[in-house]
Amino acid sequence: MRSPSYLSELFSLDGRVAVVTGGSSGIGRAIAAALAQAGASVVVVARKEAELAATVDALTAKECRAAWVSADLSTRDGVRAAAEQASAVFGEPDILVNSAGINLRPPMGEIGDSVWDATMAVNLEAPFLLGQRFGPGMAERGFGRIIHITSQQAHRAFVQSGAYGVSKGALESLARSQAEAWSPYGVTCNTLVPGFVMTPLNARLSSDPHKVAELAARTMMGRNGLAEDFAGAAVFLAGRASAYITGQAIFVDGGLSVH
Ligand SMILES: NC(=O)c1ccc[n+]([C@@H]2O[C@H](COP(=O)([O-])OP(=O)(O)OC[C@H]3O[C@@H](n4cnc5c(N)ncnc54)[C@H](OP(=O)(O)O)[C@@H]3O)[C@@H](O)[C@H]2O)c1
Repeated sequence: MRSPSYLSELFSLDGRVAVVTGGSSGIGRAIAAALAQAGASVVVVARKEAELAATVDALTAKECRAAWVSADLSTRDGVRAAAEQASAVFGEPDILVNSAGINLRPPMGEIGDSVWDATMAVNLEAPFLLGQRFGPGMAERGFGRIIHITSQQAHRAFVQSGAYGVSKGALESLARSQAEAWSPYGVTCNTLVPGFVMTPLNARLSSDPHKVAELAARTMMGRNGLAEDFAGAAVFLAGRASAYITGQAIFVDGGLSVH
């Protein structure tokens, strides 16, 4: 018999609290909007206040529950302050999305300490520290969802992957370690793997029409990714429907990685 509540039992995020780092731009912003529209109360975390406020205003205009915290995730103190401020708004999160990321692209031989440290701090250490802060609580409450945004560069070299690719490869390993630790307690930990997505992160490549067309041709869909392409996968991984999926890397890349 058809049940009107069947889909909401699988996918609704009503009553859930989500923290989305990098939620003010690109993929993170699209994911924050998706989770909020699926019912979650969402706190977006990034540095620039104007972008954060605009994101939250757009969500509250749609009658979603959303708030923002401005924090610099490139330092341990910044991450810890962000975690406390974010969990003070709607309570401890059920869902953590790590989308904040940076891609500094000096050629391999020119990568110095500062590029290495900055990349690892934002792309890897912040997700680790946030997991340490929120994962045990999720496990204790018997439900949690940790979703990291990695990259095709976790799997192969691509336009000077340098330190960035290393950080994303490690982030996939972190997801597996977190999954091993907390899955028995109802906390799934997975990664979404983008291909090439037209966002401010890759403004340089995105503004070169020749490069854009070339990259689109490498996908199976014949187009590059849009931030909105991550909405469905994020809602799925954040909800009850994905309860038996953990430690996985799910490619949202139009077939780029298998072409
Ligand atoms: N676009 C792609 O093609 C692509 C491909 C593969 C993977 N990815 C990954 O997808 C994720 C999202 O990327 P995107 O393309 O959506 O990038 P984006 O539009 O540049 O957004 C990056 C977000 O991270 C925040 N952020 C950066 N540094 C931060 C810091 N130190 N502290 C706090 N927040 C910080 C930014 O806000 P503030 O600047 O205000 O802090 C922004 O909200 C990243 O992890 C990226 O590596 C993207």
